[in-house]
Amino acid sequence: MVRLTSLVNTSGCAAKLSPKDLDSVLSGIPLMRCDGLLEGFEHSDDALVYDMGNGSVLIETVDFFPPMVDDPFMFGQIAAANALSDIYAMGGEPKLAMNLMCFPHCLDLSVMKEILLGGIDKVREAGAVIAGGHTISDREPKYGLSVTGFAKKDEVWYNRGLKEGDVIILTKKIGVGVVNTAAKVDEAGSDSMRDAIASMTTLNKRARDAARDLSVHAATDVTGFSLLGHLREMAKSSEKTVELEYHLVPQIDGALELAKFGFLPEGAYNNREFISPDVAFFSDIKREEEDILFDPQTSGGLLLSMDKEDAEIFLSRMKGTPASIIAEVKERGEKLIEVLP
Ligand code: CO
Ligand code: CO
Repeated sequence: MVRLTSLVNTSGCAAKLSPKDLDSVLSGIPLMRCDGLLEGFEHSDDALVYDMGNGSVLIETVDFFPPMVDDPFMFGQIAAANALSDIYAMGGEPKLAMNLMCFPHCLDLSVMKEILLGGIDKVREAGAVIAGGHTISDREPKYGLSVTGFAKKDEVWYNRGLKEGDVIILTKKIGVGVVNTAAKVDEAGSDSMRDAIASMTTLNKRARDAARDLSVHAATDVTGFSLLGHLREMAKSSEKTVELEYHLVPQIDGALELAKFGFLPEGAYNNREFISPDVAFFSDIKREEEDILFDPQTSGGLLLSMDKEDAEIFLSRMKGTPASIIAEVKERGEKLIEVLP
């Protein structure tokens, strides 16, 4: 049996193009506009938003990547949970999805079937349907979805809109990129693997549902550009400074240890290079602690900015999950992010 992860160089959202390269390409691409388009790619938001003119908006996104686990069903679950997440990150409800599949000749077709079944499992849990797709023969396997969701126009969450005095909540642990990197060479312990897989296969549906009637001022999800990268996008587009308290950030079991041993995906280095000019680290933050904050996440949690009272209500609804307040919003200072121990 061929190991899925042995066929790929980088996996999950760590396979994203570096933020620096993406930035340089997109800055030379004309912005396309049409009536009704409320959100394109100019604010690096999670999905496009289209006003349907009846009080509702259509939200559309696409995400696919190479496998980070060898179990094909589980890979399908993770890729689907990750793709659905961008709809939740906009406050929307996913309804329709299509498969995107790249598949190598060297693998048995039953593997493809398992991946697709894993995808269906999570899309069904989300209350949406898969109604089509596209398949390509490729050297590396890759899978994901395009997803269409809906929301009321005045209930959409954008990644901009942080308010001074808000707290920022993260709803999942970070460190899955480090664990996946160690797992490729069989160095991740079984506790770390279990914790990472549980996190990656969890839908952000519960978090979105728990925050829907609260006054969320800004939201996004944490994926390939790391916790600091996605916080930076929120801070930048809101013209605020985010004060992150490192010790409050929930982490995958053993991830910090693995980071200390140097199991860092290439994306972590790219993220550090691009993001660190906008970050002030307090002097007693250790190198591996910084590394975890730059670690690319696959199917990471939501970042939600709201006032303190609403945050308490949200956290009481999220009992039993890793959801925690990790940061506070300040007026724009010298750097976009300050990291305290
Ligand atoms: Co996103
Ligand atoms: Co995405």
